[in-house]
Amino acid sequence: QLMAYRLQLKERVIMKIIVAGTGYVGLVHAAVCAEFGHEVIAYDNDEKKIEAFSSGETDRIVHYVNEPGLADSIRKVYGKHLFFSTKLKDIIEGTDVIFLCLPTPPNMDGSTNLTYYDAALEDIAKSLKNRKDLRRVVVVNKSTVPIGTAIHLKSVLDSNKVENVGVASNPEFLAEGTAVPEARKPDRIIVGCNEDQDFIILQRVYSKFVHHVQTKYIETSPETAEAIKYVANTMLLTYISFWNGIGAKLGEKIPNIRIDDLRLGVTADKRISTWGSFVSNGAGGSCFGKDIASLIYQLRRVNVDTKMLEASFEVNENQKVYLVDRAINENGFQFNNKTIAVLGLAFKKNTNDMRDASSIKAIERLLGKGVSSIRAYDPLANDAAKLEFNPSRNVLFEKIQYVDSARAAIEGSDALFISSDCEEFRGLSRTIEDMAAPPYLILDGRRMIPDFEILVEKGYTYLAVGSMVMEGAVAGTGSS
Ligand code: UGA
Repeated sequence: QLMAYRLQLKERVIMKIIVAGTGYVGLVHAAVCAEFGHEVIAYDNDEKKIEAFSSGETDRIVHYVNEPGLADSIRKVYGKHLFFSTKLKDIIEGTDVIFLCLPTPPNMDGSTNLTYYDAALEDIAKSLKNRKDLRRVVVVNKSTVPIGTAIHLKSVLDSNKVENVGVASNPEFLAEGTAVPEARKPDRIIVGCNEDQDFIILQRVYSKFVHHVQTKYIETSPETAEAIKYVANTMLLTYISFWNGIGAKLGEKIPNIRIDDLRLGVTADKRISTWGSFVSNGAGGSCFGKDIASLIYQLRRVNVDTKMLEASFEVNENQKVYLVDRAINENGFQFNNKTIAVLGLAFKKNTNDMRDASSIKAIERLLGKGVSSIRAYDPLANDAAKLEFNPSRNVLFEKIQYVDSARAAIEGSDALFISSDCEEFRGLSRTIEDMAAPPYLILDGRRMIPDFEILVEKGYTYLAVGSMVMEGAVAGTGSS
């Protein structure tokens, strides 16, 4: 049911929107809502962040949120449709919609830590209670929150005696690195409300989005909207785990199975997605691991068997370290006292985000195996990695040196580990030949070296996810 049918032409469609929380989700959403003409105020209690965003300077913006196209978008609308504030009470009057885009990190047991969420919610409830303009306001959960959080939200607003307020769940489905274009043309918008008047307010917010593109607009209950986000992310991770846990293993264990051809053949069926079929050393990022752990926790509480999800999670975690173990078991490589080049530190290309990056576990495993040093390089994430691998957390992290090119990482190393899919790692075979002599070991977690056969012919050892180990001496006899 496209909202276009339900909107009356004379209705006001420019809304006053507060976006609370200016992380990846909030800042992108605020900028794109402003691009569509709404009056948007991005609110955060971190003054340094707000100053950086208000400056319009790319360097200062990407220091906090490094998303291609975002700084340009902010500059385009700042002062016209987009404003920033750290003071709720100054901005609350006349607000139609408040999007909550707050951090919801995981607890040790997989449950969701709602401390930041609840603290911000208390402030918002108090400000809403004191507003003079009592127009209908809808408070919307946009960041991923457990099923039932919209009810919790309503009860906090009610207990603070906020008048004329509705709640909604409107989860975010953007992927990092492509968030801005995806936000402009979302494939779907999911809105969960309990009252018609709240559905209508959100239709107004999104009316321009769906008028422009083929966007599926789905209205449902808040609980269903909340569940859609968990099921989607869990499904995506499970699909990746299927390829890593089954497809890749076929290529690694059975001679003459070519994993790339296997992928092409299987995904030629239009019912089977290409996305997710690229075997890897595990999927990372701030969401997949956290969301599957949270869904497992939520399902256990209602006595649902979660074996399938646990397996999917476990396959992904094992995948992050198993190339190191394969090098030992299948190639007899000894990591002790070796120097290893590690390329790709962030959880994927085009980001500096280190959250749950596969490189973290891989590097910890390498250090655990006694390597003397690691020469690490990522085109965007070297600085973020320095924070992640802080020697005050683990003294072994002192063994990591950061260099500014793949070439410099490989120079003087005994083996190479490719941990992410940055485009610049694809053409590496020449660099490897220049900088390292056979039987130099290449551990390829992303199958980034399409011409590996040339290297193998020259005596290099190539061990990739999805293939048997290929040693120079046996070139041409293994699978590819
Ligand atoms: C993911 C989802 O794709 C978004 O839809 C969702 O909104 C977001 O989480 C979220 O919940 O916020 P994101 O974490 O940015 O987005 O990253 P993806 O592009 O989905 O990649 C996740 C991981 O899977 C990366 O490490 C990537 O390299 C890996 N991957 C991806 C594979 O290993 N194989 C593939 O074929 C595809």
